[in-house]
Amino acid sequence: MLHPLCTVAHVPKLRTVHRCTECGSASPRWSGRCSACGAWNTLVEEVDEVRAVAPPVSAADRPVSLAAVDLREWAPVSTGLSELDRVLGGGLVRGSVTLVGGEPGIGKSTLLLQALSSLAARGVRCLLVTAEESKQQVKLRADRLGVQGEGLWLVAETSLPAVMAAVDDVQPDVIVVDSIQTVFDPDLGSAPGSVAQVRECAHHLVRLAKERDLTTVLVGHVTKEGTLAGPRVLEHVVDTVLSFEGERHHALRLLRAVKHRFGPTGELGLFEMTDDGLRPVPDPSGLFLGDRRAGVPGSVVVSALEGHRPLLVEIQALVAPSGLAMPRRSAQGLDNGRVSLLIAVLDRRVGLSLAGADVFVSAVGGARVAEPAADLAVSLALASALTGTALPANVVACGEVGLGGEVRQVGQTARRLAEAGRLGFRTAVVPASAPDVPAGMEAIRVRSLAEAVARLDLAPGIAPRIEVNEHGPPVAINTK
Ligand code: TYD
Ligand code: MG
Repeated sequence: MLHPLCTVAHVPKLRTVHRCTECGSASPRWSGRCSACGAWNTLVEEVDEVRAVAPPVSAADRPVSLAAVDLREWAPVSTGLSELDRVLGGGLVRGSVTLVGGEPGIGKSTLLLQALSSLAARGVRCLLVTAEESKQQVKLRADRLGVQGEGLWLVAETSLPAVMAAVDDVQPDVIVVDSIQTVFDPDLGSAPGSVAQVRECAHHLVRLAKERDLTTVLVGHVTKEGTLAGPRVLEHVVDTVLSFEGERHHALRLLRAVKHRFGPTGELGLFEMTDDGLRPVPDPSGLFLGDRRAGVPGSVVVSALEGHRPLLVEIQALVAPSGLAMPRRSAQGLDNGRVSLLIAVLDRRVGLSLAGADVFVSAVGGARVAEPAADLAVSLALASALTGTALPANVVACGEVGLGGEVRQVGQTARRLAEAGRLGFRTAVVPASAPDVPAGMEAIRVRSLAEAVARLDLAPGIAPRIEVNEHGPPVAINTK
């Protein structure tokens, strides 16, 4: 017989499951590969709780006519950081939940402390739950940032009930939880930081945000593969997912919206990490091109597009004789596979062989240019480095290179070239089909990479190679 004090209904039933740390799906048995998302070695054993009582269905929301929905309560509130506002489409929406992900040390805590202090200074009640750092550490950071901290409340707690109590106590308008992985619910059997904990705590906080119209920001760590640690469900339950990126050794930080329920996701925010915090960078191209040395072989500027924002980035290449059986190929800020492909295209379609040479290519200044629009610039930088012929400093290149050596048009060429023109570039190497270039800029229209190399006189003295031109008779290139 049961002891009278034993209230069976409240004892959670415990069972162990194997849960995927990538997608959060559970399976009863361990296996090397997750059957739901196909990821390898991601299943971890954890205690799963089956709740005896299903959470009550909220009766607060009644059906209304679409015409009667008031958009005014959705007006974003500026965070005081122009670049953060740009990514969020104006600021934080009341009652929304935002997840900010990024590698450790990238500056998430700094970014949010700056935003909170600016909000607090404008009379918004803010609560910072610092679950990773002590209050003293936060205070030290605040001093470094020159933040006064009036109206900004701090609580150094990791347990979810204590966080809830702090919310009851402070009655904030905005709450930041730094980080969601360190908050845990003691009612759950699984260990803090486990997938079940992260998911449950996030669910609780999302529910709290919706019930109280509490603007919530959760900080999340990313795994070494660059995805947000914890299950994907975390991304599904929040309204906005921001990703804070950058090279640890560079001051530049990029903020993007991966998911945004209140606006477009294409915007890019740029910050510079300085000794006194993150400073918005409204004119990034200047930052990337600031220390450029003109007249050096292997340097070509591309007008890349980050979201809706054109960025002029210098691509540098260095080609050196190799003593290795397997010469080195190194790409920084660019896609390795793409660079290998372009090396092969240069060899087969242009006649410029890089066999037996170590090749280093990089996007300068900590920028990452993953889009194919950089193909032409990367190829021209490689050709220029190989032959030791520098391009004039005011040339910008924009185009995708196909396996046949053809140069193809990329999206939004006009916008890219307008930005290049603004920064003083006077010659644009573009595909033949590209739209008109801005006034004051000269276009070098090319059908193929070989033609671009020839027109820019990058490979004087190499044997002409016959290119088959689909639209006309064969053209001899590499001859002037
Ligand atoms: P932090 O915000 O703690 O990163 P995260 O929360 O993403 O782990 O910032 C960490 C780094 O930023 C740290 O190496 C110190 C540096 N930093 C500055 O360079 N300037 C500053 O003003 C501050 C506050 C930090
Ligand atoms: Mg931090």
